[in-house]
Amino acid sequence: MIVQPSPEAVARAAEILRAGGLVALPTETVYGLAADARSGEAVARIYEAKGRPRFNPLIAHVADRAAAERVAVFTPLAARLADAFWPGPLTLVLEKRPGAISDLATAGLDSVGVRVPAHPVARAVLDAFGGPLAAPSANRSGAVSPTTAAHVADGLGDRVEFILDGGPCTVGLESAIVDARDARGVLLRPGGLSRENLEAIAGPLEDPAPAGDRPSAPGMLTSHYAPRARVRLHAERRRPGEALLGFGGTPGADLDLSPAGDLREAAANLFCMLRDLDAPDITTIAVAPVPETSLGEAINDRLQRASVKRVYNFNL
Ligand code: TXA
Ligand code: MG
Repeated sequence: MIVQPSPEAVARAAEILRAGGLVALPTETVYGLAADARSGEAVARIYEAKGRPRFNPLIAHVADRAAAERVAVFTPLAARLADAFWPGPLTLVLEKRPGAISDLATAGLDSVGVRVPAHPVARAVLDAFGGPLAAPSANRSGAVSPTTAAHVADGLGDRVEFILDGGPCTVGLESAIVDARDARGVLLRPGGLSRENLEAIAGPLEDPAPAGDRPSAPGMLTSHYAPRARVRLHAERRRPGEALLGFGGTPGADLDLSPAGDLREAAANLFCMLRDLDAPDITTIAVAPVPETSLGEAINDRLQRASVKRVYNFNL
């Protein structure tokens, strides 16, 4: 059920969450599938609804810095990043405080990913609920992340009974994830905050060790964010049977991520346009080159993952 985010609906969402149920809610990055992060049973429902491999830990969403400090141990680097970018599209991986989050939510790790979202509806639900919410993107595991309430309903169907509609996500890419446990940060996942912006505060960020299909940085599976059709990258023109996703005014494109070549606009459109082009009669979505600069790093990361031939079928 898709519900407009009235005060009553927000109160109802908090009630469902307190009872151990699932609520899909908008964040500025993508829609999340939320449950009480303190309850293993509630968190188990998320994994079930997503069909997600168990080794993939979830992000704990909290209302503010004080709530984050109750869940995780802050380092000076983490404090600087949180001051600069929270609320917003940044997840910090930090040492977990024992007992603050269910072990299932963190997949048994002694670290936790924590973030303060900026979307007013997410913030209203966090305030009404009063605790940490585990919330992965609200899609079946491996599929393209949802940036509208309708995407959530399409992907999860009646696996989630309550979907709060906060309109289309303004960022459109998942949060950037920085491991900030040491003095030198590691950019585990490029995301809706560019490396330049992060490094202006954090100094140079390291890259994670290559993951492959057995994640060393958990969750960074090589194939992810995948539409049903194949995805062909760096395409200059359309081949027969293909749909063409352009950038910066690509001639003959079916859709263009940003005709003006604006990476922020392209990020916001990426998942929605991949879905729109993923029609049954299309074998391949060809994608025009997108520059690597700024948010282009995260856009190319998602496109790269969408293009990898799937070894496992997580789309069930
Ligand atoms: O923007 C976002 O981050 C969205 C919205 C809903 O907040 N959430 C999201 O969650 O993308 P999810 O579960 O789809 O991706 C979370 C990523 C996974 O790659 C997971 O492995 C990683 O965060 N992660 C979570 N906790 C971690 C930890 N302790 N160490 C390393 N990676 C972690
Ligand atoms: Mg996801």
